[in-house]
Amino acid sequence: MKPIKVGLLGIGTVGAGTFDVLARNQEEITRRAGRGIEIVAVADLNTARATELTGGKCKVVADAREIVNDPEIDIVIELIGGYGIARELVMAAIANGKHVVTANKALLATHGNEIFAAAQEKGVMVAFEAAVAGGIPIIKALREGLTANRIQWIAGIINGTTNFILSEMRDKGLDFDVVLKEAQRLGYAEADPTFDIEGVDAAHKATIMSAIAFGIPVQFDKAHVEGITKLSATDIKYAEQLGYRIKLLGIAKRAVVNGAEGIELRVHPTLIPAKRLIANVEGAMNAVLVQGDAVGATLYYGKGAGAEPTASAVIADLVDITRLATADPEHRVPHLAFQPNAMNDIQILPM
Ligand code: HSE
Repeated sequence: MKPIKVGLLGIGTVGAGTFDVLARNQEEITRRAGRGIEIVAVADLNTARATELTGGKCKVVADAREIVNDPEIDIVIELIGGYGIARELVMAAIANGKHVVTANKALLATHGNEIFAAAQEKGVMVAFEAAVAGGIPIIKALREGLTANRIQWIAGIINGTTNFILSEMRDKGLDFDVVLKEAQRLGYAEADPTFDIEGVDAAHKATIMSAIAFGIPVQFDKAHVEGITKLSATDIKYAEQLGYRIKLLGIAKRAVVNGAEGIELRVHPTLIPAKRLIANVEGAMNAVLVQGDAVGATLYYGKGAGAEPTASAVIADLVDITRLATADPEHRVPHLAFQPNAMNDIQILPM
């Protein structure tokens, strides 16, 4: 069978990692997907750098529309980020009948309902494992591994930058600004670090997880969002003396208010007893706790950012889509997306 053809939009750190891992593990990935997966075109404004990163192995274009309009391409990977041009390109790719893989949590948390409705109508898949907790397969765990469960709550360290900052402030007594610069140098932080330190990035990810776990539309605008900028070294020291660690948690939890079931969706610094496993997640690592009614508590730990950890998630989505796209359409389970209108009666509770 001919390889499935992929177009990559944006070859930064994650794009380059995706290219490298696909090439390095080509044999195993092909076996698992049932056919080859080939990146045939890359769009990036810096065409010289893109040509260098891809070693001249595929077409490089400056205009991403060339890829989303190319009838030869089956899957588009969107790694541009943000909600502007990325949204237009994702919607155009869907309209053109292409499957989409994206790591763009901001886009999905704010425009996910529109994107998934369009994908459902067009019969294409949109996959986004890389959008939450980088290399940790948390979307797959929620959607597949825990599918028998009624999820009760999710609580996670889902922003590596802030966890790195809190860890370094505690361990080395360093100032917030110094550690933030180091996190940016190491490539953990978003282009605009405000999204990290103000809790917005974690809220994007918690919003996406809440949609999968509870079968509700994405409702980022209803999330309570509080970052770590008001925390001082003294807060961290006192917490330590009392036997606690301060962690920025993204929480999505079932709750009942006045007899009505709802979801609490919140991001804020949280005191966690120092003995708990999640309190000992240090540096830029991520960890997500999920409580299901049948399975009990489960914990997922790993790298939430970086070239190859995120590429690992992007390629898992490519393999999933390749398998499903190759399967007889009648037997295809369109499970890669949440159902945007599945449970509109469950509301996010005001905080
Ligand atoms: N800025 C994000 C973080 C990158 O620090 O976790 C991965 O989403």
